[in-house]
Amino acid sequence: MTQGIEVRNVHKLFRIGDAQLHVLKSVSLTIGAGEFVGIMGPSGSGKSTLLYLIGGLDRPTDGQIAVGGARLDTMSSDDLAYFRSQTVGFVFQSFHLVPTLTALENVALPGIFAKVPHDARMAHATALLHKLKMSDRAEHRPSQLSGGQQQRVAIARALFNDPPIIMCDEPTGALDTQTGRLVMRMLRALCTRAGKTVVVVTHDPGIENYADRMILLRDGRVIDDYATRQRPALDALEESVPNP
Ligand SMILES: Nc1ncnc2c1ncn2[C@@H]1O[C@H](COP(=O)(O)OP(=O)(O)O)[C@@H](O)[C@H]1O
Ligand SMILES: [Mg+2]
Repeated sequence: MTQGIEVRNVHKLFRIGDAQLHVLKSVSLTIGAGEFVGIMGPSGSGKSTLLYLIGGLDRPTDGQIAVGGARLDTMSSDDLAYFRSQTVGFVFQSFHLVPTLTALENVALPGIFAKVPHDARMAHATALLHKLKMSDRAEHRPSQLSGGQQQRVAIARALFNDPPIIMCDEPTGALDTQTGRLVMRMLRALCTRAGKTVVVVTHDPGIENYADRMILLRDGRVIDDYATRQRPALDALEESVPNP
């Protein structure tokens, strides 16, 4: 099944007391399966809100969202949770790792919810850490890892259920430039080599070196949507990126 993302006339309003905040205003866009799309825009323009809607973490106030032909806006909460677990891996700016668990246990966490037996989920998590070149840090806790290492653990965790779509909210926002580029190359490799659809929300213009397409948001509207000039070539990627 194709995992294209279709957004049609989506509105999102937040109610805060008596006030209403109209955060997304008739947003329409399409993201093809296997595409790497960057979403940019000023702070507060609605990027995270849009990402959470297409990832099924929240629902639109109005409009339609379909992923792989399945309508998220009309799905029951249980179906939405199942959809997320099977279809989307999330990566966040602040990693969202569980501080009391080791890197390996963090990666294996989705396996608990998916009822994967202990040995199988540890073996799978070990293989994922290996792909992310993090084998030597498997027993470290998040506080014992650098930001870049923590984000690699978070990416490995996002890949646990082998979701076709990876969604990232400012994945390099807490990293230095060099480490941020490594994470971007890893995401690019997941798209080019493993065929993942990758959606990255960021305010880093360097995203254009990795994305196939850019969508620009301003004040809750799509103000531009264009193909990047050069599709990044696989041989432009360094050997240090994972080969999933
Ligand atoms: N759960 C929420 N409740 C109320 N307001 C929210 C909520 N989430 C986001 N907002 C508001 O919506 C606007 C867009 O937020 P967001 O999507 O996080 O923007 P961005 O990611 O582009 O910085 C902001 O004004 C923010 O304060
Ligand atoms: Mg945001």
